[in-house]
Amino acid sequence: MSYLPEYTPADVTPPQMFLNRRALIAGAAALTVASPARAGSPYSTDEVPNTFEDITTYNNYYEFGYDKADPAAYAGKLKTDPWSVVVDGLVDNPGTYSLSDLIAGQPIEERIYRFRCVEAWSMIVPWQGFQLSGLLQKLGVQAGAKYVAFETIVRPDEMPGISGSMIDWPYREGLRLDEAMHPLTIMATGLYGKPMPNQNGAPIRLIVPWKYGFKSVKAIVRISLVAEQPVTTWNTLAANEYGFYANVNPEVDHPRWSQASERRIGGGLFAGRIDTVKFNGYGDQVASLYTGQDLTKDY
Ligand code: MTE
Repeated sequence: MSYLPEYTPADVTPPQMFLNRRALIAGAAALTVASPARAGSPYSTDEVPNTFEDITTYNNYYEFGYDKADPAAYAGKLKTDPWSVVVDGLVDNPGTYSLSDLIAGQPIEERIYRFRCVEAWSMIVPWQGFQLSGLLQKLGVQAGAKYVAFETIVRPDEMPGISGSMIDWPYREGLRLDEAMHPLTIMATGLYGKPMPNQNGAPIRLIVPWKYGFKSVKAIVRISLVAEQPVTTWNTLAANEYGFYANVNPEVDHPRWSQASERRIGGGLFAGRIDTVKFNGYGDQVASLYTGQDLTKDY
């Protein structure tokens, strides 16, 4: 990951200090009229969300290029309908599911989460989604399954970053089963009350808010229940820089930069850095998952 913790060319845009009113109004209307989303989840932060503009123009999605502006520029090409997801491995109901069959019965709600990238920037995002635990219950996890592995779609014709990249596609990520079953872990299908923008991982992506953003894999086409810790993209590229767990941890620096603080996108070029909080502030809910583990080793 050619990660720079400081300014990149994508930062040299006028800082958006204002809320994007149009997006907020549209989002509120969509929430009340069109979707079963429910405001006020106890899992949501009360911090003010970043603007729709911030969230959809400053992205990491290497299938579309390495620049933060590339996903917004190129991801529109990706056809996300029809969409199907393969479910396999140690599961009672394997198969190839259409997106609507996959998510049928899962209650969609809004979750406003902190999102902290390993590059030391962060945002507040109002996602719509459902708990992965509900989907896993529906799929029927078999005894012996200890991890969930995810893969992103690979479509070289629609994804200009695929060719000439160092990454061995598909983009792969994974969680331990107890992490996957945690109520904070969601499959997100939208943000700001709108269907998920392509650059943010349409039509369905993972969100694990206490981990660095690279765990939150986009445009998922495969979910596998497996016994062994799965191979994951960044961990394979540089295991000493990107651990499998990737829990946000200000006490464990990236070998090339500090993780003690972060830059909140949208704060403006001259805004100060803010302190990074262990587990991205979700420690009360998730620290017990790691009892007995040395998180300086299992980073
Ligand atoms: N998923 C895929 N398929 N490809 C990617 O390059 N980048 C990851 C993650 N999911 C990535 C991905 C990284 S490094 C981050 S920080 C987040 O997506 C960024 O999500 P956002 O663009 O919605 O903020």
